[in-house]
Amino acid sequence: MKQSITELLICPSCLPAEKKLILNIFKKENKDILYGELKCNGCGISYPIKKGIAFLIPENIKSGTTDTPYENLSAISSYLHSHYGMLSDDHDTGCAYEEWASKIKCGTGLAIDMGCAVGRMTFEVACKFDFTIGMDLSAGFIKKARNFINNGCLKFQTIKEGHIMEDNLVNFPAKWDKKKVEFIVGDVHAAPFPANSFSCITSLNIIDKIPSPFIHLKEINRLAKKSGAQLLFSDPFSWSDENADKKDWLGGKHDGRFNGDGFNNVLNILKGKYNIYDPPFSIKEKGHIWWKIKKHQNLFELIRSCYAKAIR
Ligand SMILES: C[S@@+](CC[C@H](N)C(=O)[O-])C[C@H]1O[C@@H](n2cnc3c(N)ncnc32)[C@H](O)[C@@H]1O
Repeated sequence: MKQSITELLICPSCLPAEKKLILNIFKKENKDILYGELKCNGCGISYPIKKGIAFLIPENIKSGTTDTPYENLSAISSYLHSHYGMLSDDHDTGCAYEEWASKIKCGTGLAIDMGCAVGRMTFEVACKFDFTIGMDLSAGFIKKARNFINNGCLKFQTIKEGHIMEDNLVNFPAKWDKKKVEFIVGDVHAAPFPANSFSCITSLNIIDKIPSPFIHLKEINRLAKKSGAQLLFSDPFSWSDENADKKDWLGGKHDGRFNGDGFNNVLNILKGKYNIYDPPFSIKEKGHIWWKIKKHQNLFELIRSCYAKAIR
């Protein structure tokens, strides 16, 4: 973890109160903190830094972190391939991330990729802003993103057919600047940053994967600058009881406040309905992007992810 990002961080368990974190360094290599802790000067909770990664998960959800469906090897391989397959000239994966990235205009200040998985979009956004945070609840994903930076390459296996595996090697592209990126383990419902911090926020394919989609949208409103902020939101709206209670879905049901079409409901929230977004965002563009995830050499999951580019 870069020491300089300590200044940006606050305690995620004390939110909405903004309590500073005090850094204790146990082991450091150059400017990279490998082991240490970030201790809240309000509640006293200590967040570990292990193998260079800060774990900034709010106290109330700590118990759930190890059983995310994303911690297993096949999920990690699928996401590595989906994010980086194109860089090793595997064109079967499509170019969803280039398409999402093309929606974001260059700016200044901080950006955050919420639910970044193995980090592709974080690197894309980092090319357009001064500094970008990639944040995900899955430590397995964040470790891969950090290894990519540190090793200058990524090696991973994907299933070719049955038990036969295929080796993949991807080199860290020269046009990406590792000095402008940091990855942390954190929660998209309670991000460890003060209000009005970010000039750009991306939330791609996560709103239907988390227990409290509405809280995540409120969190985006808290984090985004009041003026001069870009938001790129995208999702396939695959609501499921496994990820969230039906009462908390933002669409895909006949009853409740958020009945009907999830994409429309999200757009309405961003545009100011229910007085959550203050000031509201204006939607500049919307549509869909086809996103592919490889299962094996002849089987792909094809996802229609509905995106909106918004500004305020
Ligand atoms: C479907 S993946 C999408 C990943 C990435 N945004 C993309 O589009 O490739 C959902 C991601 O959300 C992450 N996630 C799930 N719950 C989370 C939470 N509460 N906070 C942060 N990340 C979370 C998962 O670990 C996973 O990386």
